[in-house]
Amino acid sequence: MEKLSIFVETHGCQMNEYDSDRIINSLSAHPVKNPADADVVIVNTCAIRDKADHKAVSAIGRYKKYKISNPNLIIGMAGCVAQLYGKKLIKQIPHLDFVIGPREIGKLKELIKDIKDSSKFKKINTSMDIEEIFKVSPYHEEGKINGFVSIQQGCNKKCAYCIVPTVRGSEVNRPLKQILEESRLLIDQGAKELTYIGQTVNSWRYEGEKFYNLLDHLQELDGLERIRFTTSFPRDITSKMVKSMAKNSKVCRQLHLPVQSGSNRVLKMMNRSYTIEWYRESVLKLKESMPDLSLSTDIIVGFSDESEEDFAQTMQLIEDIRFDTIYSFMYSVRPGTPGEKMSSHVNEEIALDRLHRLQLRQRGITLENNLEQLNKDFDVLIEGASKNNPKDLFGRTSQNKVVNIRNLDSSYIGKIVKVRTKEAHQNSFVGELI
Ligand code: 5AD
Repeated sequence: MEKLSIFVETHGCQMNEYDSDRIINSLSAHPVKNPADADVVIVNTCAIRDKADHKAVSAIGRYKKYKISNPNLIIGMAGCVAQLYGKKLIKQIPHLDFVIGPREIGKLKELIKDIKDSSKFKKINTSMDIEEIFKVSPYHEEGKINGFVSIQQGCNKKCAYCIVPTVRGSEVNRPLKQILEESRLLIDQGAKELTYIGQTVNSWRYEGEKFYNLLDHLQELDGLERIRFTTSFPRDITSKMVKSMAKNSKVCRQLHLPVQSGSNRVLKMMNRSYTIEWYRESVLKLKESMPDLSLSTDIIVGFSDESEEDFAQTMQLIEDIRFDTIYSFMYSVRPGTPGEKMSSHVNEEIALDRLHRLQLRQRGITLENNLEQLNKDFDVLIEGASKNNPKDLFGRTSQNKVVNIRNLDSSYIGKIVKVRTKEAHQNSFVGELI
C-alpha cells in the first residue's frame, strides 16, 4: 500500500489525543492539515457527555462534501462514540466507511486495506477482547517537546455516572518494559517532557511493581527532563506515592485529582469509594510534602438528586482547597450506566445555575492564586511560539502554568530557563529571564 495521507479530528481527553497519534502510526500515514488533501479522514470521538457524542456525529457530517469531490476518500469514526454505537452509526450515516473502537487501533491497517480492496465494504471493529492493545506507539512530530505515554487502558472503578468502563473496558496495565521503551522512543525523537496517561494512573501495577516504583524508573530515563501523569484517583493516593513524587526531581509539582463533589452523600451515590474527609486528608499529605504543588480537579454538578446543601459543601470545598483549576460539568445521563436508573434528576435550570456559581467563584480563586505567584522565580520549559504574539515564546512551570516571555529567540525552545513572573492573568503569566 502506498503511503496514505491522513486527517484526524480529535475530540475529548488526552487518551484520545494519544490514540490519534497511534492511528497515524498504525497506518504509517502522512498527517495533513487540510482534509481536502487526505486519503483517509478519521474523527476520534468522545462519549463522556451527551453533548460530546452529538458533536461526533455532526463532525462526520461535515466531511461528506470531501467525499463528493474525492469518491475514493475513506471516512471513519474512532474512539468512544464509535465503540458505543458501532453498527448503528454505519446504518445511520451512509458516507461513513468504518467504525473502530479504542482497543482495535492495531488492526486499522488491515481494515483500511479491506475497504480499499472492496469499495462497497463497510467495517465495524469494536471488539474489546484484544490481546495487544498497546502494540502501536504514537506518531511524534520531530522536535516536539512534549508527548504522551499510555500506561493503562480502561477502568475498574464503577462510578455511577461514567461511560468509560463501557466504552474502554476494564483496566489493563501496560508492562513496565513497554512503558520504558516507548518513553525512550519519544525522548530520542526530541521529547523532554512526557505525560503518563491512564483513567486512574496511580492504580497502575505490573508484576509486583506499583505506581510509586514506576516513578523511580522514569526518573532514571536519560534525556527526560519532566514527568507528568494524569488522571489520579483519590482513593489510590498512598503515602508511598506522595514520597515518591516528592523525592523524584523530574516529577512535576502538578496533580489532577478529580473530587466530583464535596458532599459525602453525593460521593456515595456516585460510588466514588472515598469520603470527603479522605480527600481532604490526602490533599493535606500532598501539600505537606510538596507545598508548591498545584492541584486541579473535576466536579460534576446536578448528579442524581444533589440538593442545595450538597452543592454548598462543594462550594465550601473549593473555598478550602483553593484549586488552581477546576473542570466542571453539568451531569449528563449516559446510556447503560447505573446513573441512568437513578431517579429524581436535578432540574436543568437549577443545575446550570449551580454550574455558573461554581465557575464564577473558581475564576476568582484561580486569579487570586495566580496573583500570589507574582514576582516569583520558576523553572520554565520553553515549548514554542506564544499564542498571543509570534515574537514571544511560551513555556510552562513545573506547576503547568503558562508563562509568555517577550522577544525571546527560538533557540530557547526545548530549554529550561529561570524566569521571574511580572504579570499574572487569569490563564497565564508574563515573565522575564533572570
Ligand atoms: N456527566 C457529566 N460529567 C461527567 N464526567 C464523567 N462522566 C460524566 C457525566 N455522565 C466528568 C467527570 C470526569 C470528567 C472527565 O468528566 O468529572 O472526571
